Amino acid sequence: MSGSTMATTPAEGLTREEARRRIDRLRREIRRHDRLYYVLDRPEISDAEYDRLFAELKVLEKAFPDLVTPDSPTQRVAGEPLPAFPEVRHLAPMLSLESVRDPGEVRKFCERARQALGGRPPIFVGEPKFDGLSIECVYEAGHLTRAATRGDGERGEDVTANVRTVRSVPARLRTTPLAAPRLLSARGEAILPVRAFRALNAELAKAGKPVFANPRNAAAGSLRQLDPRVTARRPLDLVFYDILAIDAGPDLATHLDELRALADWGLKVSPLNRRLRSFEAILDYHRDLGRRRATLPYEIDGVVIKIDDLQARERLKTTARHPRWALAFKFEAREQESVIEDIIVQVGRTGVLTPVAILAPVVIGGVTVRRATLHNREVIARKDLRVGDAVRVARAGDVIPEIVERLPRRGARRGRPFVMPSRCPECGTPTIRDGPFDRCPNRLGCPAQVRGALRHFGSRRALDIPGLGPKTVEQLVKHGLVRSVADLFALKESDLAGLEGFGKVSARSLVRAIQTAKRTELWRLLNALGIPGVGERTARDLAAHFGSLEAIRRADEAALLQVKGVGPAAARGIVDFFRTRANRRVVDLCLRRGLTFVQIAPGRGAAGPLRGKTIVFTGSLDTLSRQEAEALVERLGGRAAGSVGRDTDFVVVGKAPGSKLLKARALGIPTLTEKQLLKMAGGRG
Ligand code: IVH
Repeated sequence: MSGSTMATTPAEGLTREEARRRIDRLRREIRRHDRLYYVLDRPEISDAEYDRLFAELKVLEKAFPDLVTPDSPTQRVAGEPLPAFPEVRHLAPMLSLESVRDPGEVRKFCERARQALGGRPPIFVGEPKFDGLSIECVYEAGHLTRAATRGDGERGEDVTANVRTVRSVPARLRTTPLAAPRLLSARGEAILPVRAFRALNAELAKAGKPVFANPRNAAAGSLRQLDPRVTARRPLDLVFYDILAIDAGPDLATHLDELRALADWGLKVSPLNRRLRSFEAILDYHRDLGRRRATLPYEIDGVVIKIDDLQARERLKTTARHPRWALAFKFEAREQESVIEDIIVQVGRTGVLTPVAILAPVVIGGVTVRRATLHNREVIARKDLRVGDAVRVARAGDVIPEIVERLPRRGARRGRPFVMPSRCPECGTPTIRDGPFDRCPNRLGCPAQVRGALRHFGSRRALDIPGLGPKTVEQLVKHGLVRSVADLFALKESDLAGLEGFGKVSARSLVRAIQTAKRTELWRLLNALGIPGVGERTARDLAAHFGSLEAIRRADEAALLQVKGVGPAAARGIVDFFRTRANRRVVDLCLRRGLTFVQIAPGRGAAGPLRGKTIVFTGSLDTLSRQEAEALVERLGGRAAGSVGRDTDFVVVGKAPGSKLLKARALGIPTLTEKQLLKMAGGRG
């Protein structure tokens, strides 16, 4: 059964029985694709095809409302906001783990396990320790009937309506190859991907609302929403790692059996789980995940080591709160204490003044932290932060460090409250207040804003100009070579000759990179311009909707509001941007200096094997030219980028590779040979 073979059937003219059969089939099909996409990470159809199936189901259910069932994929978000979460008792206590950092403790744990097995060498299971929110999901006769937070371990909050909105949680268990048990209570962790966490914080900060200190708080905040519609908009995930209770289920003798059964029932389990046979193997696993930590899509704060044999677990029993058959082996802490030595103010590309705390250096997760963002005037006031204060600092993934809280020190004399400057520290222009933010209005003249605009213009999700880093931008602005982004296109090798750090080769390669970037996709330019309210997503939507820059420039607010993803603020931002003479001049100058657009057919490669992946090339390839290789990546649904970063998925390595390969290795990014790339293309290439 494949989505593309199902044509849209109008609801009219169907008998009730025909509609029932069709609805049944659509639901099965949608559930299958949900699992492929959200649980297995292996989609088979494009988003557009999926949307068509979903839309058809909705039409049919509207025409036959009595056929709507609570486990229909359309019912993920249902019901009104709750006044409060009811309290529920868990089917079995949700214990917590003893956590250690010292390998000596792990060795003792291994020895206890051996004793419990009567001297036989124990088998362990290693799992990532997800840093999220522990959740119990109860399935009765295969149907999700309840989901609850951990609470005090005995009782938690009923968050069923919210957990139903999590796409990787099936409303029904799969029944092949294993029949669903009469009752299943499965435990897992609700987590928010680091990328989604950052996007959410950016959105909150923009709206002047408090931001979350880390992805765990963001996941908890998202699940503990009284309005499930809010939860539904957050891309939460739930990874399962334990069976709390089961009735009339299959025979499960080991933890690995349990994990396999959970996966067979359609629940997500981590692909990073491993069978481990010795203390040394546990250390290797801990080291390996510790290294990969920064490149995983989720926050993990250690590994969990569990005894595989369920009978041996019985023999080890449980202490008051912790089972003795499992252990959390944590990584180095991501939080440390420090002192605010100074508060400085930075000016960003949109003119927003951001206060930044200069800290007494502390090492967090192997990285020395010297500064933390303080966001804006209101955040400083709410956390009541002043120079001289002792604070707790957190680093989550590669997110900018945050101050979690001030540490009260009894009797200590505190400094004076911090006051935002009334003039731009870069150009002296009086600032204006904009909600919780202070802004410098000197958009085109303020050197900090010009530098920011240039850096953004050349960034990877904009015009992608490798070599246009912060140092180069600083020099270009300082020497008056570039006053607006359009001046980039007029740069000559000889202009760069005298600049610090530039030789013949680097000057030539920067000019080349700029000339290459002149042929770009429309959405990239739209994102690059830094129009208020227009990020990458909106830029893509605008380009797909209007098809040309001219059409967007001509559009009024009403026309812009027709675009999915464009709200009133973005619509106003776009109109204002193109109404401003100075902006029009810069865009026209770019076009006159040779900026042109390449067309990428919408939806092309949407279901390709590289869908959504970012690929970088280094070195020369044997059979393909760089251009052909990049075109191939696009055909397979991916995107070719100029430089390696954390969002790079693969680096394709040719002959005589450069520093990109070193960077890929440092970040743990997988590499491919040209052969492997061509193999992926298979028949499709
Ligand atoms: S097993 C009785 N496995 O870590 C053992 N927990 O206190 C039950 N966690 O509250 C927990 N990843 O929320 C287990 N792979 C994993 C886990 C995990 C994260 C959380 C869980 C628990 C806390 C430790």
